[in-house]
Amino acid sequence: MISFSPDTGIWLLTTPHTSYALRIDETGAPRHLAWGPRLTLREAEGLLVPVESAGDSFEGLPPVGEELPVDGGTRFGPPSLQVRYADGSRAFEWEPVGHRVHEPAPGSTQLVLEFRDRVHPLFVELHYRVREDTDVIERRTVLRNAGDQRVDLLRADSAAWTLPALPDYRLSHVTGQWSAESQLRRDALPYGETVLTSRRGITSHHANPWLMLDAGDATEDHGRVWSTALAWSGTWRVTAQRTPDGRAGWTGGAGHEGTSVPLAPGEEHTTPVFAGLCTDGGFGAASRAWHAYTLAHVLPRGRETAAVLYNSWEATGFDVDEASQKALAERAAALGVELYVVDDGWFGSRRSDRAGLGDWTPAPGRFPDGLGPLSEAVHGLGMRFGIWVEPEMVNPDSDLYRAHPDWVLHIPGRTRSELRNQLVLNFARADVADWAYGWLTRLVGDHAVDFLKWDMNRAFSEAGWPGADQGDDRLWSAYVTNLYGVLDRLRADHPGLRIETCSGGGGRVDLGILARTDQAWASDNTDAVDRLAIQHGYGQVYPARTMSAWVTDVPNQLTGRTVPLRFRFHCAMAGLLGIGGDLTRWSREELAEGAELVAEYKKVRHLVQHGAQYRLTEPLGDRPTVVQYIAEDAAELLVLAWQYGPRHGTPRIPVRLPALTPGARYRDTRTGTVHHATVLTEYGLLLDLPRGDWSSTAVHLVRLPDSD
Ligand code: DGJ
Repeated sequence: MISFSPDTGIWLLTTPHTSYALRIDETGAPRHLAWGPRLTLREAEGLLVPVESAGDSFEGLPPVGEELPVDGGTRFGPPSLQVRYADGSRAFEWEPVGHRVHEPAPGSTQLVLEFRDRVHPLFVELHYRVREDTDVIERRTVLRNAGDQRVDLLRADSAAWTLPALPDYRLSHVTGQWSAESQLRRDALPYGETVLTSRRGITSHHANPWLMLDAGDATEDHGRVWSTALAWSGTWRVTAQRTPDGRAGWTGGAGHEGTSVPLAPGEEHTTPVFAGLCTDGGFGAASRAWHAYTLAHVLPRGRETAAVLYNSWEATGFDVDEASQKALAERAAALGVELYVVDDGWFGSRRSDRAGLGDWTPAPGRFPDGLGPLSEAVHGLGMRFGIWVEPEMVNPDSDLYRAHPDWVLHIPGRTRSELRNQLVLNFARADVADWAYGWLTRLVGDHAVDFLKWDMNRAFSEAGWPGADQGDDRLWSAYVTNLYGVLDRLRADHPGLRIETCSGGGGRVDLGILARTDQAWASDNTDAVDRLAIQHGYGQVYPARTMSAWVTDVPNQLTGRTVPLRFRFHCAMAGLLGIGGDLTRWSREELAEGAELVAEYKKVRHLVQHGAQYRLTEPLGDRPTVVQYIAEDAAELLVLAWQYGPRHGTPRIPVRLPALTPGARYRDTRTGTVHHATVLTEYGLLLDLPRGDWSSTAVHLVRLPDSD
């Protein structure tokens, strides 16, 4: 709901549990008023404080507190909007020109505040969208050059967010690297400016464009948390500030420093959505609200149950051929797998990562009759057929590169730096994007492909687009827009197609790509122990319904660690269960245990994929790591627990289970034991973890009808 007080000029955005208030101040600038628990318009008026005329003070305008701080006037903080006009001058002065309130879809309302610069015909719109079923507020900015000369947007953030004055501020976010993504950090927000960013062309393994701020007192289940997430899959920057006068806020959007967005006469630029959320109930409640929002409003098919998949990568590497894939597919089907995915190595001269990337025809020596026979065999086994692609890349040793050396990002006369022996195709070029769309739609159509694992295995370098007007600036945004366009076109052509986003593991996971895909490969690290920490960070914002996780062989290829098969399964069951081991080497006992665990997952996956997730302990501490997934109506729940063998004498502490139906009783589907909800919630469940290193368990509890 969106309301307005003409007397005070306050706009009030109302979500189920929160309010967001702003007003246009005496200078015409949009100023923040409140973001927190619900308020009426009248109550919001009580927050108005007389604004000192900035001209009276030494300080200028406060560095946080505006809805989109611009470069202009007496502002000295990091600008959300920084403009350079054709005459070389900079600055923006707010002149309000109108507003609109409309319903983009049933259950949602959008406020658009319209402004222009007082001097140049540059128009700026601030968009705010609220919905009836979520506290997430979606913001974005639209800029239009109505003049007859180019304008350069040196910085065009989606939104700036302001916190109320708090006694302290703490920042939660993730850092990482390849095979160690999503490492959760919680640190006091330093005074000054803290920049979270990716300059790599992709969202990146190293940082992810979400953050949470609290007063330093929030726990997993108590306290107020403000969080935001940017829906963008290219480079990005979020600058959080803690000001000398004790305030905090942040601005963020697409692009990194040194790049700009040129706006030709008449051209419009729409920023990605920067979504914000204020929650009570600690980090757990914040995560659950993001999960629910992503399922309901981001994923194209968030309510759909994801299939159990098999992926060949760790089993075969590049050594892919029809016979070996069929052998694996037969074993996978016997395990209960529903989707068989052939990974890298099926095309062109691809025998290693040194050659063939870009030549997307099945390798004749390995698939003499093309992919048809394998696709048919997989379908004949009752599974869906999936295949790996990396459409944005090329090996210099490929027919594609020999034919189109100009298709890659490059700067004439400079080195073309390789990473993983490959170069980046310039998807900002319409001909390159069309070429990719063309072969992909044929591949999917011709071979009855049900699933694409869309990979992207290197960062941009020498990011130039010779020949295009302002190409080196335009490419950052055009690349992502065209990537989204290819995904959208493929989905429209093939409504049954499902897509996994992958970028050397979790290098491209964000709300932008998740709006066009169905799931994400969270990391190339399949070590179940390392994975617990990665999954813990991943799940702070992104739901288990999107998190693809495989059971692979031991010793783990990356870490050399050996943990029991059951532990590996339980870890992968915390997301979308997949199998990635070499099934031709699994013993009869392992295959039997695997089949049993796949069947068990199928009985509880609706809870993991669509239930509410409660993290009940810190991951990888002295106590077991415990996560609960509970159905919306609390009729059923799953508890997954993992632990490293404790020292003898370590007390076993029962785990208290939240969100159960008060007074009800729950039956353990494996043991038949009946528990009272009051006991489970107030006194806890004593987990029956086997002795020894790396033990784990899955407890499935079902509520009994009142009469039982
Ligand atoms: C990186 C991915 O993350 C892996 O799962 C695998 O698909 C390889 N690329 C293949 O080259």
